[in-house]
Amino acid sequence: MKRISFTVNGVQHRYGGDPEMPLLWYLRDLLQLTGTKYGCGAGVCGACTVHLDGVATRSCITKMGSMAGKRVVTIEGLSPHGDHPVQKAWQACDVPQCGYCQGGQIMQAASLLRQKPHPTERDIEEAMQGNICRCGTYQRIRQAIVLAAK
Ligand code: FES
Repeated sequence: MKRISFTVNGVQHRYGGDPEMPLLWYLRDLLQLTGTKYGCGAGVCGACTVHLDGVATRSCITKMGSMAGKRVVTIEGLSPHGDHPVQKAWQACDVPQCGYCQGGQIMQAASLLRQKPHPTERDIEEAMQGNICRCGTYQRIRQAIVLAAK
């Protein structure tokens, strides 16, 4: 495969390996950016959510062969000191329980607020419905998004 260039959290990367490899493995196994989690591997749980050119994307079903020129941001790169408004709201609302899905939840919420700074309840519902939390922290997630939008 021809080597492709893209950025991860502002750092330039070049890749010439298997184009079928999921972005999730590149992030976790090669870069040790383990805040992005593996849940279902099929694009249906949201644990692996990152931003691709600013849009929430499931990294488990994003192939490395499609990454040329892309800008990837992971939970580690969302803010310099964990102080993105969504992260601050997450802390204020004490959202996580086990925490496993929360990086993906935060990335999904940050993408929503970037597109819709003042989302309606329905906007929140629609944007977040693909992010599963087995601890059932949904109510606190909604509270935190409302707080972050203030
Ligand atoms: Fe990617 Fe579940 S691990 S959506």
